[in-house]
Amino acid sequence: MYVAQPIEWTDRGVVMLDQRRLPAEEVSYTYTNYREVAKAIRDMVIRGAPAIGVAAAMGAALGVLHSSANSVEALSTEFREVCDTLAETRPTAVDLFWAIERMKRRFAELTARTSDLAKIRQAMVEEAQQVHLEKKATDEAIGRYGAEFMPANGQVMTQCNAGALATGGIGTALGVIRVAFEQGKKIHILVPETRPYLQGARLTAWELYKGGIPLTLITDNMVGHFLKTGKVGAIVTGADRIAANGDTANKIGTYQIAVLAKENKVPFYIAAPVSTFDLSLPDGDHIPIEERSASEVTHLQGVRIAPDVHAAHPAFDVTPSRYIAAIFSERGVARAPYTESLRALASSAQLAAVPATR
Ligand code: MRU
Repeated sequence: MYVAQPIEWTDRGVVMLDQRRLPAEEVSYTYTNYREVAKAIRDMVIRGAPAIGVAAAMGAALGVLHSSANSVEALSTEFREVCDTLAETRPTAVDLFWAIERMKRRFAELTARTSDLAKIRQAMVEEAQQVHLEKKATDEAIGRYGAEFMPANGQVMTQCNAGALATGGIGTALGVIRVAFEQGKKIHILVPETRPYLQGARLTAWELYKGGIPLTLITDNMVGHFLKTGKVGAIVTGADRIAANGDTANKIGTYQIAVLAKENKVPFYIAAPVSTFDLSLPDGDHIPIEERSASEVTHLQGVRIAPDVHAAHPAFDVTPSRYIAAIFSERGVARAPYTESLRALASSAQLAAVPATR
């Protein structure tokens, strides 16, 4: 089945598919400079929590690979600047910071052990590739756990795009849907368009269509109607950050879907890797919410659709954990009370199946 490739490490540089131009055009860029990668993340050439983590890891590797430093000290100074630049791109998705921390840890290990800059550069590139490989394995595992919860026959709603484009693997929420579909479940996906950036209409509809999974595109204000009348068997979305108590930040609009799900007795699930858990935050009130440009609300693909008035654009909202029936991760399924179940998953063994490249 078709799986989109949002990002790839190549000998020429980091190749990214420009998600802003989908579905009309499939255009890719090759980046050789970490500053360009940071800009690509900020401008949403690449988006989706795990995918921006992969991009940050690759950006950090590019920063080391193309640095002109000729001592470990000089390289360390530059590497700090590389990591700070990447960390300033988008504030909500914790995968970004997880990936940067991981690259920092690897850099510290390497520089403690050797002053051979060529070796350090090579090992940092391998670490970034390893992050990408692990994301792929993670998605497959999330898909297997979550598919069990999908109806054998019926409608499944999602939100935003938590597919291959958002992770670099098969997707989290769409990975669950894909595995359920491949298992023979007769599911039909309801896809809210996800204003203002239209990740549902442009990206999820495109991925499902290319994968041959039946779908119906709806506008965001049809969600309540379909949950009340549409015989929806389950809802599954991704996550950008999950606090210790299970409160979950995801694309703006997710909260209202979860509340309407409860009202209509439809189970609402989250599919996300353990790297999306932020157990340092007690609850969702502590999750930073990205405020994006108002022009993404007043304009659609560059065309003005509203007068020149003030427009708000919080890019994410927080769903309190009481609305979440379960969280599917690569290490198993968490259920309430989340403070205990998330901590147990976070401290359980890493995925064993990922081949190491070093
Ligand atoms: O602003 P975006 O497009 O990066 O937001 C993406 C989402 O909110 C996704 O649902 C989330 O990152 C999960 S992706 C597997």
